[in-house]
Amino acid sequence: MTTTSDATLEPRPADEWWRSAVIYQIYPRSFADGNGDGTGDLAGVRSRLGYLRDLGVDAIWYTPWYASPLADGGYDVRDYRTIDPAFGSLADAEALIAEARELGIRTIVDVVPNHISSEHEWFRAALAAGPGSPERERFWFQDGKGPDGDQMPTGWVSSFQGDTWTRTTNPDGTPGQWYLHLFTPEQPDVNWNHPDVRQEHEDVLRFWFDRGAAGIRIDSAALIIKDPALPEVPATPGPGEHPHLDRDEIHDVYRGWRRVADDYAEPRVLVGEVWLADHERFAQYLRSDEMHTAFNFDFMARPWDAKELRESIRTTLEAHAPVGAPATWVLSNHDVTRPVTRYGREDSSFDFAAKRFGTPSDLDLGTCRARAAALLTGALPGALYVYQGDELGLPEADVPRELIQDPMHFRSEGVDPGRDGCRVPLPWTRTGSSLGFGPDGGAAPWLPQPADWAERSVQAQDGDPESMLSLYRTALHLRRELTALHDEELTWLDLGGDDVLAFARGAGFACVVNLGTTPVPLPAGADVLLASGPVDGAVGPDIAVWLGLPS
Ligand code: GLC
Repeated sequence: MTTTSDATLEPRPADEWWRSAVIYQIYPRSFADGNGDGTGDLAGVRSRLGYLRDLGVDAIWYTPWYASPLADGGYDVRDYRTIDPAFGSLADAEALIAEARELGIRTIVDVVPNHISSEHEWFRAALAAGPGSPERERFWFQDGKGPDGDQMPTGWVSSFQGDTWTRTTNPDGTPGQWYLHLFTPEQPDVNWNHPDVRQEHEDVLRFWFDRGAAGIRIDSAALIIKDPALPEVPATPGPGEHPHLDRDEIHDVYRGWRRVADDYAEPRVLVGEVWLADHERFAQYLRSDEMHTAFNFDFMARPWDAKELRESIRTTLEAHAPVGAPATWVLSNHDVTRPVTRYGREDSSFDFAAKRFGTPSDLDLGTCRARAAALLTGALPGALYVYQGDELGLPEADVPRELIQDPMHFRSEGVDPGRDGCRVPLPWTRTGSSLGFGPDGGAAPWLPQPADWAERSVQAQDGDPESMLSLYRTALHLRRELTALHDEELTWLDLGGDDVLAFARGAGFACVVNLGTTPVPLPAGADVLLASGPVDGAVGPDIAVWLGLPS
């Protein structure tokens, strides 16, 4: 049950818009297919900008749209200054950025500093130039260990499981040096001690900022610096002791990037993908001369449990306060299990290592909780990220094994289903060969859409006040209207015990989320502004409400 809002959306003021922005994540391959080849593209996005304006988003973050062999869905960049032809052209990207901005929507592009594609001209040149060449110094080429050099330089484990070194072959066919890749062999790590690497990335930032990008999302941001001695990973590394994670020298890189971003009349924004368990080390990336914000994966990975979520919210806000940076709230992205599926599972936490085929989920329960989670995250102080399709309540799709493309699946030797289940092309209409993803009769979507997604399409949900889409639209409009949700700090309220998350934002607004099993009576005089489900004087299990409080 939702209440509606007829507020007209005003674009946010330029100043510090990112502190409480709603940022919608587009996975371009799967958003909308303009030319009917089965792959999403920029023409598709341009045709759907009105949808995003009506949804009420402030900015769009695009996962990589650059020329790429797609060994890792575009996170293997061949050329940062070219749009992959499957998505369109640079002119299309420029037009898209400008058209979105006219609708009050800013653009954030993805920058992947840890690695490039093995087809990037730098890596091809390094292979061709051979051992000891300056071209190889831009990467981590090493001789192997052992008398024949056939042992890897380190035993580091890949973020995608498996080895992190691949041996090259010399032009005469003999085995050659090894190169480092924390992800797939098609993604060689670059050497951030090399001045070319630093210069090139600052130039890439300027390239996109000059074209109107309002910010960048920084991929694998804590991994880029390596200990040049290449030691093994200690059993329990202390702060800054890990050879390839969160090294102290990393901050110098982001300070340089901040200077580039601050050079613009409307300063550009740096958003980090920083996966770190240590909250204090995490916050160091958000000091006033480094990144503006970073994704809050701690919150995202927690189970649907009041104690866990309360602890995450508390520690998040405490960690951000000293550096003056806003928190971010993220329920999912293109790497993790969709919330509707995750919250319907017995174990509703998220862990890459635990993903398995066929894990049961109660999707009705998951949907109910995902609705409540949308209102919870929408009411917390900071920026909010919405991954495409979560506003439609899409569940994780079961992609048939023979169609899976994600390298995480293959590198797990088929045990991990990988990430394609959250990357299935969006359903826009009830009918049509691709449910409106592309033109009717066009090529089949690059991943198949489940048959029952017709009823989850935008068309099916549009105008239905009970739908997930209506809930998101109303919440995002209200969030923009209610200044308390931008300006006021969070104050915890004691309502209904440990299983209830209740907090105020200023004197006039409260959010109550019931994660327990007994209904929680509404506070006296409270006015229900928005609810994730039916509310009749009390907030039932797995329901969240936004309340106006009497003054
Ligand atoms: C990030 C991206 C992920 C990608 C990886 C390697 O975690 O979100 O999709 O596979 O980096 O670039």
